[in-house]
Order: sequence, then C-alpha cells, then structure tokens
Amino acid sequence: MPNDPFINMTPIYSKITGLGFYVPDNIVMNDDLKQYMDTSDSWIQDRTGIKQRRYFTFGKDTNASMGAAASRNALDRAGVAPANVDLIVYATITPDYYFPGSAFLMQRELGLEGIAVIDVRQQCSGFVYALSIADQFIKGGMYKTVLVVGSEIQSSLLNKSTEGRNVAVIFGDGAGAAVVQATTDPEHRILSTHLHADGRHAEDLMVKDPGSSRDGRWLTEATLAAGDYNVSMNGNAVFKHAVVRFMEVINEALDANGYTANDLDLLVPHQANIRISEYVRQQMNLPAEKVFNNIQKYGNTTAASIPIALTEAHEEGHIQPGNLICLAAFGSGFTWASALIRW
Ligand code: UT7
Repeated sequence: MPNDPFINMTPIYSKITGLGFYVPDNIVMNDDLKQYMDTSDSWIQDRTGIKQRRYFTFGKDTNASMGAAASRNALDRAGVAPANVDLIVYATITPDYYFPGSAFLMQRELGLEGIAVIDVRQQCSGFVYALSIADQFIKGGMYKTVLVVGSEIQSSLLNKSTEGRNVAVIFGDGAGAAVVQATTDPEHRILSTHLHADGRHAEDLMVKDPGSSRDGRWLTEATLAAGDYNVSMNGNAVFKHAVVRFMEVINEALDANGYTANDLDLLVPHQANIRISEYVRQQMNLPAEKVFNNIQKYGNTTAASIPIALTEAHEEGHIQPGNLICLAAFGSGFTWASALIRW
C-alpha cells in the first residue's frame, strides 16, 4: 500500500468524527421523587441544578443496549460502517453483569464479534479515560477507528428512601458515544489528554458490595442486611476536591498546549452538580456561554455525562470547526481527567 499515509513518517493523530447519545424515555421529575423520599423540587434545584433525570425501562433498556443506541447514532453521523470499527472502549460503573463487562454485550449487539473490547471503570472520569485510551491506540498506529462509549443505569443502584436522598436525587441513566479516528491533519484533532487518580479517597464515593475480600461468600444475608450495595458518598468531601481538581486538570491541558482559559471556546465539564460547574466557571473567568450544562435535564449520568453533553453541545451548534474544546471530569476514586480538542 504505497499510498497509505499511515505507513510513512507522517505523525498520526486522532479526532472525533461522530457523536451520539441515547437517554431512556422515562422522565422522572424532582417532584416524582417525593413518592419515595422526603425531598423537594426546590432543594434539588437549589443544591444541584437538576430538574429531571431519566430512568431506564426494565425489559426495554439495558446498559449495553443504550450504549449500542448511542454508538449507532455516532457511527451514522461519522459515516462509518460498524464493520470498520477496530476497537470498543466502554466506560461504565453499572455493567449489566458483574463480568464480563458491557463492552462484550454491546459488541455482540452491534455484530462486531472478533474485534478488541476494553471495559473501563474510572467512574465519572470514565469517558475521558476511555477517550485517552483510544487516542493512544490510534497515535501508536495499532488502530484507526475506535468507538468510545459511556453508558450508565444508575437508577437500580440508588437507595431511593429518605436515608439515601442526598445521593439518589443526583443520578440518572443514559449513554453517549464518540467515533474516534486516525488523522494526519495536525489542525483538527485531540491535542492532549491528562489523567489522574488518588486512591486515598476511595471510600468517599463508593459502592462497597458485592466485593471479593470478605469473610465467606461475597453476597450473604449479612451483606444484604448491611445495605452497602447502595452508593455511599461523602458529598461534602467530593464537592471540595472536585472544584480544585477540575480547575487543576483544565489548566494542565491548557498549559500543555500553550493556551490560557481565554483561548477556550467551550468547556464541557462532567455534569456533577451545577454549583461545581458554576464555581469553576467563575474562578476561571469564563463567560456563561463558554461552559455547557445539561444537568438540568439528565442529572449526573457518571461516565455518560460528558459524551451526552458533548453531543448536545454539538447538535445545538456550540461547537464549530476550529473551536478549542476542553472536556473535564472528576469523580469517585478519586479520579480526574481532561482532554483538549481542536475541533
Ligand atoms: O459525579 C461526581 C460525584 N458527585 C459529586 O460531585 C457530588 C458532590 N456533592 C454535592 O453535590 C453535594 O454534596 C450534594 C448535592 C450531594 C449534597 O449537598 P449538600 O449541601 O452537601 O447537602 P448535605 O448532604 O450536607 O445535606 C444538607 C441538608 C441535610 O439536612 P440537615 O442535616 O442540615 O437538616 C440533609 O439531610 O440537606 C438535607 N438533604 C436533603 N433535603 C432534601 C440532603 N439531601 C436532601 C434531599 N432533599 N434530596
């Protein structure tokens, strides 16, 4: 293949060529949560910005089916046939099975048996980690087309009683996907990705059970009675670390490429809490139109939140060719990560 640009010395980069998302039909308003717990629309909106979220429909949606729907959407828009995908990188913390991961189930649903799949956890930073993995595989020359997915069904994990309300009201279900492809164009591409983790805070946001390091079986009557299969969160600690790490990792991406916050056209943060995004926006002196938020409609969808937000931002015309776009995430682990993209 003498004309194949990918076998000469031209540097290979990666770029996002298609975006898609899927959210379940079932809209759950803040007031709907009052049937399960003592809460109010005003508390939820004031503390988080959330007005509604989506919950999956049992028998219709699965984690993998939502990932597949988002992926088909992204592949269509990229004009890429599923058969041309070389690798699936799938971020979720709410897989259909304990193992194998949902990447396998989505691969099967898309009819892509035989290609490599990687399941990524990394919680709210999962999509940016997955994007970075895709970027490295492409730049290294191993693959040319990678499907990067974030999909979550949180609603079946939540303790929807008053006891669990500080966590339950935040989270929602959904999926987003990006087609990432090799390019030799140095202008329009993923410029860099930046990944971090700090396991000292592992227990500040976690689901403890079922786990393997137990005295006896990993799922027993005692485990069920303890209720540690619910999400537990030290909301205050998460909030305080999030605002610091978000800014750090955004600045790290800008510095690495010789830019400042003034150069940014759009920041697409993980949709954790509108107050976190707003604090970061103000500290970085960014005008409101340069920070994309859709947490109002979907809540926090963990690994799906960035690809859903990026897709909506793109659909609504907030992302134009040549724009400088920053993705930034923070979440359980703790993890934090960013990607800087010249669109
Ligand atoms: O995706 C990445 C991970 N997640 C995050 O980034 C989330 C970060 N944390 C947060 O966003 C906030 O900590 C929350 C929104 C989760 C909670 O807000 P908060 O201001 O930290 O509330 P809190 O848990 O300290 O609770 C304050 C009060 C308590 O009442 P008292 O003790 O002051 O009487 C809670 O019982 O608010 C009460 N409360 C609620 N009231 C109505 C907690 N949750 C609710 C609720 N409805 N859903």
